[in-house]
Amino acid sequence: MKNNCFNLHKCKIIEFPTIADERGNLTFLESSNQIPFDIKRIYYLHNNNNSSRGAHAHKALNQIVISISGSFEIKLDDGKKYKTFKLSNKNQGLFICSMIWRDLFNFSEDSVCLVLASDFYKESDYIRSYQEFLSYSE
Ligand code: TYD
Repeated sequence: MKNNCFNLHKCKIIEFPTIADERGNLTFLESSNQIPFDIKRIYYLHNNNNSSRGAHAHKALNQIVISISGSFEIKLDDGKKYKTFKLSNKNQGLFICSMIWRDLFNFSEDSVCLVLASDFYKESDYIRSYQEFLSYSE
């Protein structure tokens, strides 16, 4: 996993261009321009309750997480440091590179979490044990 990210500093908030006029706002994002990978999959978390989600890392997947309604928090951990982000701004996305442990929590009732992913769903790309994740990051 030498080429994989493992680096919290690479996980950043990306500002998306927004066209605002008297009708409201239009926010857009394009692969390779705002998004640093080709988007192969989109999924979204909705009807969220008090449960936490995530609790895994990905071996190779890169993702952008966007709060398109309400708010939630996301804790990112590279095995050495961690940082918590509160996402509520519809003009922003959080880039999460591979090999970052993530926990999502504190979803507001109206929250919708949109995720753009660099690959199709593959269970083999998941690391679901924090101890296993730490063993890779050493
Ligand atoms: P999971 O990624 O574990 O959810 P979260 O990290 O948000 O808590 O996925 C939950 C279930 O959904 C799991 O059985 C895998 C399945 N799933 C798909 O089939 N396709 C997908 O694109 C995703 C993200 C999950």
